[in-house]
Amino acid sequence: MCGIIGVIGKSSVTSSLVDGLRRLEYRGYDSAGVATLVEGRIERRRSEGKLDRLVAVLDKSPLDGVIGIGHTRWATHGVPNERNAHPHAAKNVAVVHNGIVENYRELAAELRAKGHSFASDTDTEVVAHLISQYMDEGMGPQEAAAASLKRLHGAFSLAILFTGREDLLIGARLGAPLAVGWGDGEMFMSSDALALAPLTQKISYLAEGDWVELTREGAVFHDVDDRIVERPIKLTAYSGAMIGKGNHAHFMMKEIFEQPAVIGETLNAYFNPASRTITIPNLPWDWNDLSRVTIIACGSSYYAAMVAKYWFEQVARLPVEIDIASEFRYREAPMPDGGMALFISQSGETADTLAALRYCKQAGQHIASILNVSESSMARESDIVFPTLAGPEIGVASTKAFTCQLVTLACLAIHAGVARGAIDHADEARLSSAITKVPEMATEILNNDATIRALAENIHEARDVLYIGRGLDYPIALEGALKLKEISYIHAEGYAAGELKHGPIALVDKDVPIIVIAPSGALFDKTASNLQQVSARGGRVIFLSDRDGIAAVGHDASAVVELPKADPFVTPILYAIPVQLLAYHVAIMKGTDVDQPRNLAKSVTVE
Ligand code: F6R
Repeated sequence: MCGIIGVIGKSSVTSSLVDGLRRLEYRGYDSAGVATLVEGRIERRRSEGKLDRLVAVLDKSPLDGVIGIGHTRWATHGVPNERNAHPHAAKNVAVVHNGIVENYRELAAELRAKGHSFASDTDTEVVAHLISQYMDEGMGPQEAAAASLKRLHGAFSLAILFTGREDLLIGARLGAPLAVGWGDGEMFMSSDALALAPLTQKISYLAEGDWVELTREGAVFHDVDDRIVERPIKLTAYSGAMIGKGNHAHFMMKEIFEQPAVIGETLNAYFNPASRTITIPNLPWDWNDLSRVTIIACGSSYYAAMVAKYWFEQVARLPVEIDIASEFRYREAPMPDGGMALFISQSGETADTLAALRYCKQAGQHIASILNVSESSMARESDIVFPTLAGPEIGVASTKAFTCQLVTLACLAIHAGVARGAIDHADEARLSSAITKVPEMATEILNNDATIRALAENIHEARDVLYIGRGLDYPIALEGALKLKEISYIHAEGYAAGELKHGPIALVDKDVPIIVIAPSGALFDKTASNLQQVSARGGRVIFLSDRDGIAAVGHDASAVVELPKADPFVTPILYAIPVQLLAYHVAIMKGTDVDQPRNLAKSVTVE
């Protein structure tokens, strides 16, 4: 949440700052701003709203300067207006900040007593004043920044610009990511290496508690105790081209259409086609020693965990406890001795999931993570990381990361099943070959996009939409409802199909579309009965199934979407795709901002 960038350049840096902010906008888009040094003075341009509004401000009132910082905001303290937009400045410094300074009230009171006054309602502004105060007391920039960092409680990454210092930026990280980019006679820093992709591929990551001095010659890293430390330079695989929309109007659509390819790539990381086995080297635990697995995540990643519970329990006969991270972290759950806790996260930075991870670590669990961003806080704190190879996901609504999480979880469940003797090699070969067919089937579903777009016509004027599914497909009902509400702002709920009659069926009338997710399989007849209960009460059923399911009860639905007939083991991966497409088309018809829906941000680094 919130994106920060800093550039020490050879010539004017404003366009690099704005370009970088465009790549960071997924982290928040309530307001944006930049600051540079003009003849040694801090000059700022800020604007409420999306980056385009800042660009318009810069067009009217251009800003030069060979050093600068920038910010795109997801508001935490203070409404999103220009006054609260970063960078925040005091006499000697300007600061951009991602995170929360929890003790800002105490610090502000102390600084007020020393004559400081504040121009915004943010927690960040105290950081600028605190450093400035220390500099007025005689400290140099480095000393003042280091002293200030020790007084901040909370989680943050910071980039700091100093009056009169065209050769120095200071960055810091505690609980929020910060990457340094190495150029030739120019240096960069950002919340995300992705933002620096067009500028450099050479990246160093600050470790927790680090701060860094950036000059045109390079970077000097300091640890939490101010000792100079080395942080390795890595080459990122990110390229500028990976961050475009291709031929699509929105990142979300591009990412939906990338799924056949990235699902295949993720599967390749775990599946050996020659032996038809799932191969996972260097597992730090023996599946047979585990009495239970705990899986924790937020949002869509949590729905992936729900699917995993079915897979692990059915295929590996291994009990699974799942929880949403914001609940788990305060629940003081007892953990089994030598247990394993698995965390699922696209970003690897979600504050609640990270806190839950730390709790489990303290409780002596093996820590495993399924992550899309390999250089993330969770990656650093895990004993083992299972990467999803979805590539950068920019659309705020998760799509390809979710299906790649499912592929990874399916592979893990099979691996556990074989290791525990719950399934044999023939089962392993059958289940994994079912996954190998997913990319082709996903393409078939995407080729049917026009049907789903036509269905969206029936839904975009609805006030409420219900999604129902059973077993493995119940979490997909939840995921479908989440996708719809977050990008189209239509109220939607997902239910276990069998729960409908325990209350929600009272909502059913001709105005409430009900999306029934029911591939043929062992539970099909049960869900089909629920479909009939709904249609008997005048409900407008949209039925997602395969040819057998549609032949059986399609006539009771007002509309059907036919999906390829697949092994029931993989249907959650496949049925996620039409619900993504449906949400997308409904949102387009409603005219909402698909990639940057209101009030949301992609990487949720606050509680
Ligand atoms: C929904 C969505 C969110 C995320 C959630 C967790 O489309 O994207 O619900 O799934 O914020 O984020 P990660 O996976 O980064 O931990």
